[in-house]
Amino acid sequence: MTDWPELEKKYYMRTFEHIRLPVTLVRGEGARVWDDQGKEYLDFFAGLAVNSLGNCHPVVIEAVTEQVRTLIQTSNQFHTVPQLQLAELLVENSCLDRVFFCNSGGEATEGAVKLARRYGHIHLKGAYEVITTSDSFHGRTLAMTAASGQLKLQEPYTPLPSGFVNVKYNDINEIKAATTEKTCAVMLEPVQAEGGVNVPDDNYLRKVRRWCDEEGILLILDEVQTGIGRLGALFGYELYGVEPDILALAKGLGGGVAVGAFLAKERASVFQPGDHGSTFGGNPLACAAAAAVIRFILDRDIVGHVREVGQYLVEGLAGLQRKHPSITQIRGRGLLIAIQFDRDIAQALLLACLEKGLLTNRVRPNALRLIPPLIIGRENVDRAIAILDEALSGIIS
Ligand SMILES: Cc1ncc(COP(=O)(O)O)c(C=O)c1O
Repeated sequence: MTDWPELEKKYYMRTFEHIRLPVTLVRGEGARVWDDQGKEYLDFFAGLAVNSLGNCHPVVIEAVTEQVRTLIQTSNQFHTVPQLQLAELLVENSCLDRVFFCNSGGEATEGAVKLARRYGHIHLKGAYEVITTSDSFHGRTLAMTAASGQLKLQEPYTPLPSGFVNVKYNDINEIKAATTEKTCAVMLEPVQAEGGVNVPDDNYLRKVRRWCDEEGILLILDEVQTGIGRLGALFGYELYGVEPDILALAKGLGGGVAVGAFLAKERASVFQPGDHGSTFGGNPLACAAAAAVIRFILDRDIVGHVREVGQYLVEGLAGLQRKHPSITQIRGRGLLIAIQFDRDIAQALLLACLEKGLLTNRVRPNALRLIPPLIIGRENVDRAIAILDEALSGIIS
């Protein structure tokens, strides 16, 4: 049998060495995946919050198969049906008016910031600065590395593009103090995902929205991870009673197929012909997959299911917390949940769960993240909690 990790050592850049697990996945179905040894895992990772309908969902397979036989790529010099159908679906089911498609989360946030800068040039006397927050994560392009509030990501790449001011998350006064005549936008995640699953105060986003309105600047919400049902609403902003001017999406949008998007209100849709572009962005294959995902989520009330099963998961984890005092907090919304511990055991616990057939994610040295597919059922939640219980007992005995 081929030793795939050995091939990685020889051929692949070393970027994933610190996170790569000793598992080679070869197949997936629903909430289960299998490795090359035939071992089965319960998937509470979902391709990093991507496989919204689970692995290889029949509607995604059908949409992709049909499209791959019909038309895969054309370039944006031509109209294509899946692109415009997806555009209509997203606009008609959100508070935004226009969309631009790209291929990843980092491209979506980068495009959102370009649009805000364009708005600044046109309407705010050339204002270009974007205020972002500590512990945020907006992607890996150079500009989004500068935008993300995590020094460890920035240090290897200095000097970084300018135009970002980073302030403390969940504190409106910090945003107010950082706003100047150079500011064109504030960019936030409704719940910070990569930064540790940090849920802000209920009225934080409303205060930020009000401030942006008072100052005439734009609010960009980065819903690359929280969007498309993950929090128990189609878009996270619905939970906080605000509407963004610009919204970035990716991850769950394609149900496993790479696709990103940013949307904007009409007044913020200021791109002129030639201002932005993409070769692959909006291609028929990715758009057909995403349209199938959105239709399924809407038709089957998957968002209602996420609320219900997310609550069930949190209750189960609360039971686990009563049994294991090393758990200090359960936090998150919908199916974006973190378990916080009083010590740095997340990696050991992740490995113990892996051994017992459960995929999870270490979001901090002392916090584990659970991001199952949105279609996860109660019986799989019970199984995951039983494995976590056993794994935790083995580590802290
Ligand atoms: C909130 C948020 N924004 C942007 C990104 C970047 O997305 P991608 O890795 O698809 O470029 C991520 C990825 O984790 C994310 O969670």
